[in-house]
Amino acid sequence: MQIFETISELRKSLLPLRLQHTLGLVPTMGALHEGHLSLIRASKADNDYTICSIFVNPTQFNNAEDLKHYPRMPEDDLKLLEAEGCNAVFMPEPIEMYPSEPVINIGFGALETDMEGKHREGHFNGVGIVVAKLLNMVQPHRAYFGQKDLQQYTIIRQMVKDLSMDTQVVACPIVRETDGLAMSSRNLRLTTEERKIAPQIYKSLKHCANQLRDGKSVAEARKEAISFLDGLDVFNIEYIDIVSTETLAPISEVSDFEKTAICIAAHLGQVRLIDNLIVSDEV
Ligand code: PAJ
Repeated sequence: MQIFETISELRKSLLPLRLQHTLGLVPTMGALHEGHLSLIRASKADNDYTICSIFVNPTQFNNAEDLKHYPRMPEDDLKLLEAEGCNAVFMPEPIEMYPSEPVINIGFGALETDMEGKHREGHFNGVGIVVAKLLNMVQPHRAYFGQKDLQQYTIIRQMVKDLSMDTQVVACPIVRETDGLAMSSRNLRLTTEERKIAPQIYKSLKHCANQLRDGKSVAEARKEAISFLDGLDVFNIEYIDIVSTETLAPISEVSDFEKTAICIAAHLGQVRLIDNLIVSDEV
């Protein structure tokens, strides 16, 4: 497995490769788990050469504590990637990615009005900049993102379209623990007690999806999900929104289960968890 730490090494090596082979990029912030590895597998299935980037991107954190405590375990990550047969890793230092503070601003209009965009100011500007930089550096044929971050996937798909980037953006399904908790690097920071209760988020998503499928109104189903999680007295809910997967705007009536997602962000102790479920998904 090739390891690149500088942009020049990366470009030099990928330039000739790209002419004869398809390249797949999997951008991550490390502390890799099965969710990330599922993206590596998807890329390996579709492309000749898979490159994973590991970079804890400071510009997308709106909370200094979250950035400070974000898990970093590069040695374990490299072992996992090697075992998956990933071809290369790009793991730059912050100074390599940001020799100076970027002055550019990327806005995503109505796509970032709600949910993560609303609750994490500047977050998608940071995500947009770093993903645009990575796509420019690697120029992959395909780039892989998890549905776990539904709004992130949607804004990146839009950015690639708006900027005519020559990369296909591929979405991959959410990988869950056996008890339903969506895998996340942040799960490592949950206490034993918190870890036990965390799957209730998925339980509330499934219940809400069932209710919508049974014809309950959006307002009622949402209210019930909020009171269920609130009633457990451990979650601090940031939002529970029922949105269109196309516009990401909250809807008042469901017209298509496949295009309706229930999205949750909640704090459990020190940890902020997000999850979502498309109403038509198998539950
Ligand atoms: P990170 O949180 O490390 O996630 C990297 C990729 O893995 C994202 O596309 C995310 O949606 C996906 N992923 C995370 N957990 C998943 C799960 N349980 N199932 C399926 N996919 C999952 O998202 C980021 O990093 C950053 O914002 C990044 C795009 C790298 C830009 O800095």
